[in-house]
Amino acid sequence: MKEDFYKYQAQTTSHPLAMEISHAKGSYIYDTSGKRHLDFVAGVSACTLGHCHPRVVSAIKTQTEKYLHVMVYGEYIQAPTVQLVKLLSENLPESLNTTYLVNSGTEAVEGALKLARRATGRTQFLYANHAYHGNTMGSMSVMGFEERKNAFKPLLPDCFPVNFNDEADLQKITSETAAILLETIQGGAGFIQPEHDYLKKVRQRCDETGTLLILDEIQPGFGRTGKLFAFEHFGIVPDILVMGKGMGGGLPIGAFTASHQVMKLLQENPKLGHITTFGGNPVIASAALVTLQELTETDIIKETLQKEKLFRKLLKHPLIKEVRGKGLMLAAIMETPEIASEVILACKDRGLILFWLLFEGRAIRITPPLTISNDEITEGCKILQDVLNNIQSY
Ligand SMILES: Cc1ncc(COP(=O)(O)O)c(C=O)c1O
Repeated sequence: MKEDFYKYQAQTTSHPLAMEISHAKGSYIYDTSGKRHLDFVAGVSACTLGHCHPRVVSAIKTQTEKYLHVMVYGEYIQAPTVQLVKLLSENLPESLNTTYLVNSGTEAVEGALKLARRATGRTQFLYANHAYHGNTMGSMSVMGFEERKNAFKPLLPDCFPVNFNDEADLQKITSETAAILLETIQGGAGFIQPEHDYLKKVRQRCDETGTLLILDEIQPGFGRTGKLFAFEHFGIVPDILVMGKGMGGGLPIGAFTASHQVMKLLQENPKLGHITTFGGNPVIASAALVTLQELTETDIIKETLQKEKLFRKLLKHPLIKEVRGKGLMLAAIMETPEIASEVILACKDRGLILFWLLFEGRAIRITPPLTISNDEITEGCKILQDVLNNIQSY
């Protein structure tokens, strides 16, 4: 299998972790040698309810026995799809009442950018330095990491960076700006939170200039930071909300949500302003629906903040300079990228899955399933502490 993996499957790096998977359940992934790995990464913040949550598996099975794909997005009435967008709307502020379902996070970002152009008649987009919004051409145009973009230029014109948390930079939002796109909590940058009412100030400047505020909650959304969506911590409401990752309970999905009035603009002039074959797929929607039901019917989201406290208590070590983030979107910051890498790889050997962040080499990603137990947190942190005590490059 390993040989075929390298031979036939396109690779994103020359050094993939290449763990061969047998099965996964709860907070654990089992490899084909029978070894058990405690998962502190959750498929990069995607497996909100852990692996193969019984409710998700059962919803998928039930739906697969009824029908799979029957029509392109938006033509037929498919119960799981409608129930999902309705429940979403019931859990969002009044103005965020209409959702367009797509297949991935980056496609949701593309849809949001297109919608902002249609709604404002303007072309300019602002984005934050060190932001990550996906890897298709539009999303890459608003990625705040120029080195990674250069080889793919020309990208979208009229896209300009601002510094996240920089109040003075908000003057760059003008009556020319269609939208400013921000991650509510910056992920790839190192789990950077908005400070000093930054998002309120962004909201205010957008209102002054008729600019739309798009918040990308593809990573912090769906309970990860102790609220269903992270913007709820900061007292503002975006014009367009983008989501994905943890929404699908382990299946691929993305969505952008806006007001009915704004979303309607994608229907005319030109008609079919955004289309997708598989968006809103009923099997995936049924998994996303029970994920959202489980999150909203239980204390899982609230418990995220208690689990953060436990992590912060157990992640004390001279090599850990800082623990950043909120809820179960945490990053342990080491002194150098070399130390971070050594720790991640040594923990892998010891049966604890950790991972890197895209643009902050010193960070160790800790984004476990929200369903992780206190005992599992303690077990994983003990492995991490043992590894840190034996680290070579210190
Ligand atoms: C904040 C953010 N936006 C967008 C994306 C892109 O999502 P996808 O990989 O599903 O296209 C990601 C994925 O890591 C993300 O973290």
